[in-house]
Amino acid sequence: VIGIVGGSGDFGQGLAERLRRAGNEVVIGSRTPRGDFVSNPEACRASEIVFLSVPPGGVEATARELAADLAGRVLVSVAAPIVFRNGRPGAAPGERSLAETAQEAAPAARVVAGFHTVSAKALADPDLTLDEDVLLCGDDAGAKEVVAGLVRDAGFDPVDAGGAERTGDVEAFARLVINLAYAQGRGPFVYRFEPR
Ligand SMILES: NC(=O)c1ccc[n+]([C@@H]2O[C@H](COP(=O)([O-])OP(=O)(O)OC[C@H]3O[C@@H](n4cnc5c(N)ncnc54)[C@H](OP(=O)(O)O)[C@@H]3O)[C@@H](O)[C@H]2O)c1
Repeated sequence: VIGIVGGSGDFGQGLAERLRRAGNEVVIGSRTPRGDFVSNPEACRASEIVFLSVPPGGVEATARELAADLAGRVLVSVAAPIVFRNGRPGAAPGERSLAETAQEAAPAARVVAGFHTVSAKALADPDLTLDEDVLLCGDDAGAKEVVAGLVRDAGFDPVDAGGAERTGDVEAFARLVINLAYAQGRGPFVYRFEPR
């Protein structure tokens, strides 16, 4: 079972649809459980793999609140520190990456950073073939392999981008890629990192 904390948002909804289409069972978590949405702790407890799909400003507090429920789970950190000003993505500088922040807040979780460059709009478009690479970073090789499997399930190609120390680079890279897509009038963007 795959849980998506904050899965009521655009990214979580799109990802849930793609993962379900690939045959996975997906549980959506929310701060306000309603309808098909369960509480975030419930989504964590029901799942072996959990996506932390809340806005950057909510990562630390959410990971801390859910730390006990996340113990032993693979935790996919998808947040990038991007702040939109006048409709353009810009930097929200921080000393630590959001993935490192999540790891510190939920020490027993097996954090893998990834999916930052996957567009929610692209996920939501069923006619779009998502021929793109997904960079994954983390120190837990087993957890990274599990997430790589999900990346393939969702129709992407996983790329091992290094350990936890690389997560800040990947989050910043996402900001660059999204900036380029906006500047070039492309959207939803699809990105390839490796030459084919
Ligand atoms: N949008 C994209 O194209 C995209 C692409 C790649 C990665 N991402 C990353 O994916 C994450 C989610 O993106 P999104 O566009 O789906 O975001 P979003 O719609 O702004 O937020 C997702 C959900 O998080 C919950 N939430 C909001 N504020 C929160 C807070 N302070 N603390 C805890 N939960 C909160 C809300 O759910 P409830 O009210 O139901 O709890 C909301 O529906 C972000 O970190 C983003 O950087 C997004």
